[in-house]
Amino acid sequence: MATGRELEELAREASTCVRCPLADHRTQVVFGSGDPAADLMFVGEAPGRDEDLQGEPFVGRSGRLLDRLLDEELGVDRTWCYIANVVKCRPPENRDPRTEEIDSCRSYLDAQLDLVNPLVVVTLGNFATRLLLGMTEGITRLRGRSYPIGDRHLVPTYHPAAALRSGGAVVAEMRADLVRAKRLLGWGR
Ligand code: URA
Repeated sequence: MATGRELEELAREASTCVRCPLADHRTQVVFGSGDPAADLMFVGEAPGRDEDLQGEPFVGRSGRLLDRLLDEELGVDRTWCYIANVVKCRPPENRDPRTEEIDSCRSYLDAQLDLVNPLVVVTLGNFATRLLLGMTEGITRLRGRSYPIGDRHLVPTYHPAAALRSGGAVVAEMRADLVRAKRLLGWGR
């Protein structure tokens, strides 16, 4: 499929990227994974240690929570989705990505959105949500509704790491956000 090939080419190009200083610290670029023609795309913040080592987004604790919520609320596994991050390389000590790093990496994410062309984008946490909505408010204010962006719907939710830290109430709100995404996808009521 053309989309898959173009994504692979872009991933190959990104694998040697030195646009920002995160290149000095990474084990490898974590470009993205999943169905290149998915209707549902997740955008996280940045690879962590597990992701940096394995080369895939959301394979650590946060990813396990995401997998569980996907299964329990949407009845699918990650092969139904495409998963990417705002920045493709792990920031040292898992610090927040910096504005210049996000800006350097932006064209990769934009290309992933264009090529996958999902109907629904679920942004996980502040960085992805603010970037794709062009807003500065925090996730607590921005979540709880969907936003039309061209032909797509953007559904902001908490980052799974925040849900792991905060527990029950935040997980319940993530579940509600995923149900919102499911309805927009027409995958159930
Ligand atoms: N957190 C993220 O934002 N992305 C990952 O891929 C893993 C943890």
